[in-house]
Amino acid sequence: MKLPLALLATTSGASAFTTVNNGPRSITELSASRQPIMAGNWKMNPTTEADALNLANGFCALLNEMADTCAMDDVEGCTEVVLFPPFPFISKVKDIVGKEGVTVGSQQVYYEDKGAFTGSVAASMVKSVGCEYVLCGHSERRALFSDSDVNINSKVKKVLEFGMKPILCVGETQDEYDLGITQEVCAMQVSKDLAGVSKKDMKDVVIAYEPVWAIGTGLVCEADAANKVHKFIRTVLAKMYDEEVAQSTRIQYGGSVTPESVDGLMAMSDIDGCLVGGASLFSDKFARICNFQ
Ligand code: 13P
Repeated sequence: MKLPLALLATTSGASAFTTVNNGPRSITELSASRQPIMAGNWKMNPTTEADALNLANGFCALLNEMADTCAMDDVEGCTEVVLFPPFPFISKVKDIVGKEGVTVGSQQVYYEDKGAFTGSVAASMVKSVGCEYVLCGHSERRALFSDSDVNINSKVKKVLEFGMKPILCVGETQDEYDLGITQEVCAMQVSKDLAGVSKKDMKDVVIAYEPVWAIGTGLVCEADAANKVHKFIRTVLAKMYDEEVAQSTRIQYGGSVTPESVDGLMAMSDIDGCLVGGASLFSDKFARICNFQ
């Protein structure tokens, strides 16, 4: 069974045209080209290799029953699925999930190439074990490990330099939400973290809007409200690049996504996938999320 491209049915219907190398393409066409992408961020879980491999095996068995996944180039009719296991488990998890067309990514890299940086992992290292994606700017890295926008920007560029794809996480804290400055925070993070990234490289960049107050709290952002922020992020991309980049960049939502909330989120015009934490640790929940309706 192939998953339907949910976005085909829910694009904005805008009629403006933009010019690309092959000639003009409508905004509707560009947004319809955004392949859904579901990602499972395992964070610092599970606690042993055996448990990690069990989770990967269980997920694959269910995913196989429910849906086809596929590599990014094969855009027609499938959802891209990426898992972010902890570093020690990446290779073995890749061996298991790769057979189902699921890719793996790294939760973090350091921006230096190599050297005396005890405890750090370089982009070349995760690339060499088969990572295709790297999370950059996750709020837990920003808050707990002092990841600044300058450092995040260096990481994004390093990931691209090594031929991988960054998933850039942005989003407001509870205090910023209460102050009503969600847009300002997202605009600032997107513009600083993507500074110097070329238009050409933007085809490999995924953005994840993750309101910090929704992460791990069970407080999923209302689909409409999340969609408004996604639309706003596209206006930021349009200013930084152009309408083509704005409409073709994939933007995920993250924060307490569950099987119960995924369908509503994915029905939105500007939500192209989800970045899932807690629910990705349950094979049945994550398989259902990947098989959103
Ligand atoms: P939860 O799904 O547990 O809220 O985590 C979201 C997240 O941080 C994904 O990166």
